[in-house]
Amino acid sequence: MPKQSNTIFICQSCAYESRKWLGKCPECGEWNSLVEERVVTTKKGRSGNGFRLREAKAVAYVEIESQDDTRIASGVTEFDRVLGGGIVPGTLVLLGGDPGIGKSTLLLQGADKLSASGATVLYISGEESERQIKLRGERLRIAAPNLLLLPETNLENILREVERTTPAAIIVDSIQTTFSTEIESAPGSVSQIREVAAQFLLLAKNRGVPIFLIGHVTKEGSIAGPRALEHIVDTVLYFEGERHHNHRIVRATKNRFGAANEVGVFEMTNAGLMPVANPSQMFLAERPADAAGSVVTACMEGTRPMLVEIQELVSSSKYGTGRRMTQGVDQNRVALMIAMLEKRAGMQLLGDDVFVNIAGGLDVDEPAVDLGLVTAIASSFRNQPIDAHTAVFGEVGLTGEVRGATQAPVRAREAQALGFKKIVMPASNTSGLEKLLGLRVLGVRSVDEALSELF
Ligand code: TYD
Ligand code: MG
Repeated sequence: MPKQSNTIFICQSCAYESRKWLGKCPECGEWNSLVEERVVTTKKGRSGNGFRLREAKAVAYVEIESQDDTRIASGVTEFDRVLGGGIVPGTLVLLGGDPGIGKSTLLLQGADKLSASGATVLYISGEESERQIKLRGERLRIAAPNLLLLPETNLENILREVERTTPAAIIVDSIQTTFSTEIESAPGSVSQIREVAAQFLLLAKNRGVPIFLIGHVTKEGSIAGPRALEHIVDTVLYFEGERHHNHRIVRATKNRFGAANEVGVFEMTNAGLMPVANPSQMFLAERPADAAGSVVTACMEGTRPMLVEIQELVSSSKYGTGRRMTQGVDQNRVALMIAMLEKRAGMQLLGDDVFVNIAGGLDVDEPAVDLGLVTAIASSFRNQPIDAHTAVFGEVGLTGEVRGATQAPVRAREAQALGFKKIVMPASNTSGLEKLLGLRVLGVRSVDEALSELF
């Protein structure tokens, strides 16, 4: 085979380009991620997908139409919520997640609801045949009167079919299987994914149709070529949590048209994904009564308050120094809190293993869970349960001070709505909350105060 000189090595994780092969990507630090790809040259006179970009012309700000009132409701309530209140026309959305978590199911259900309102929806599948999709649809009992299925992986064919059918919404399942013949590298490679996404972006913007791209996740937990795609699309949605739970969480990690970090909560049933209107109730459903090491904390997921149970187990280690294992929270944060407890509250945890779990598989990464982490450790360490009708939240500093958190009233009201009797929270946040019916609000300034309040 003749040696090809017009190739380049591209990191499949962050799209870093290098002339020669490297074992480790200098950009993102990923090992073995550089793959040889042909250099992409745009052919002269290439018409792209048949659309010409509009001619460049500056527009006065005041003349631009407001977009917010033109959102289309997909009809799947929790899906609309993560999108920021419905689908914005002309938006390009990336939906990522592990295989089998429910990406195709969610978008098929969305397509059904959308098509029921009279809009033509084009579902392009490079992974399943029409029959397989139909089978899933029957399981979901969808009617989908205006849904068109297209089993195709070739981008040029897809664009031709879009031209012919003029759909009001397009679903691409998945971006990794779709390829353009204009690019010589293999389907699923970064060059291909970038080109395909760019073409769909052009299509979305030129036609004003919303396009949903399904993206697979690599074993490291990121959408293949994630950084290469994230800046192209308007919205990145990501399925979170585990397949072993019945509920599914979809989080907007980026959204040009809504709050980032917004979550939608679903339950996977045998008739598809059902929106969960009251996630706190679901997350607390199986909470053990009066168990040491368990505490309920009020966190914010996007604009929505959510009560979740933090479970911790402190047990003496078989080895000299204890391990710290966490699921759903940042391990470093937990290590920090443990160090703070040792120094400020005099708990000797060095020789203890500390295991932390957020019940239900939710990921929480805001500082306001600190007080929950700290009190759960203390509860397990002392083997004293925290009252089941008490919730806590607040950021904890390194000197053991409890700092204010954002959206404190919203959190407190969620606790009240779920029948909690007491909430231990930052003292700086309590103003205006004295009169919450049935909920005793206790402002604390330090971890010491919080612990003496709880035990
Ligand atoms: P799917 O949407 O095919 O996943 P993805 O596209 O993300 O790979 O979902 C497949 C899983 O969902 C499969 O394990 C079966 C389950 N499922 C249900 O539990 N109920 C249903 O109604 C459907 C359609 C799927
Ligand atoms: Mg699928």
